[in-house]
Amino acid sequence: MHNAALAALGLNWRYVACDVAVERLREAIAGAAAMKFVGLNLTVPHKLHALDCLDEIEPDAKAWGAVNTVVFEGRVPGGDWRPMRDCDPEGIVEVRSRGFNTDADAIVRSIQEDLSLPLAGARVVLLGAGGAGRTAALKLASAGVAELALINRTRAKAAELQREIAVQYPGTRTALEYPDHNVDLILNATSLGLRPDDPLPMDTARFPFARAAAVYDMIYRPAETPFLCHAARAGCKTANGLGMLLFQGAKALELWTGQRAPIEIMRQALVQHIYWKS
Ligand code: ATR
Repeated sequence: MHNAALAALGLNWRYVACDVAVERLREAIAGAAAMKFVGLNLTVPHKLHALDCLDEIEPDAKAWGAVNTVVFEGRVPGGDWRPMRDCDPEGIVEVRSRGFNTDADAIVRSIQEDLSLPLAGARVVLLGAGGAGRTAALKLASAGVAELALINRTRAKAAELQREIAVQYPGTRTALEYPDHNVDLILNATSLGLRPDDPLPMDTARFPFARAAAVYDMIYRPAETPFLCHAARAGCKTANGLGMLLFQGAKALELWTGQRAPIEIMRQALVQHIYWKS
C-alpha cells in the first residue's frame, strides 16, 4: 500500500521490508538513520522494544507502550530539526529518531468509517483483553463510548482493564459480563478466527448476534471469519480489520511525507495484495 501511495504522490521513494533480529533492533535503527532514511514502520516484537532505542517518543506511543512508526529528522549546522523529507541530504550533520503510534487511532477511525457508527454514547461488547483488546478498550473509552462489556477467557485481565478504565475514563460504564440488553457494537479483539478450526470468540447462547447492530472483527485474514459470517447472517452490519491496517498505514505515510494519504489507492493495493495474491 505504501509503494502504491508513493507512486501516486510522485515520490521517488521506496518502502522495503527488512528482517531484523530482536537483539539488533538498535543497530538497525542507527543504520537507517545513517543512511538518511525518511522513516520506518516496526512490527511485533520490535514495536514494543523500540521505546528504548529512539531519541524522542510521542505521547501516543508512550501511552500505548509501543512504537509502530519512526520519523527521522535531520539538522544542518546552526539549523533546526526538520523531517528528513525537507532536508538537503548533503548538509545534514545530525539525525534524530522520533517514535509514533498510529495503530490506536486507526481502530477508532476504522470502526467509525467502515461501520458508519459514531462511538460517542455507544454500547459495546468487547471480546479479548490481550494487547489488541486493551488498546481497543482504552481507545473506545477515550472516544466516549457509554458502556463497555469486557469479556475475556482470563477474567483477571478484563478486571485489570476495568480498573484502568475506571481511573482514566470514569464516564464509561464497564462490566465483566454479557449485557442483558441490545448493543450497538460487538468487537472481536481475540485471536480466535485466525485458524479455520477455532471456536467462535463469543458465547452465542448467552449473547446472540441478533442483540447487536454491528459487528467488527479485528482479524482481516480470512476476510470473513466464521464470527463475521454468523453476524452477517443474523442481520448485523459487519467489517473486518483491514481498515485498521489501512488507516495506521495512511497516518504513517502522512507523517513521513507531510502530504494527505491517497486512501483509496492504498486500500486497493492492500485488497489486491492480501486477498488476491495470497
Ligand atoms: P494480541 O496482541 O493480538 O491481542 P494477545 O495479547 O496474546 O494477542 O491476546 C490474545 C487474546 O485472544 C486474549 O484476549 C486471549 O485471551 P486470554 O487473555 O485468556 O489469553 C484471547 N484468546 C486466545 N486464544 C483463546 C482461546 N482459545 N479461547 C479464548 N480466548 C482466547
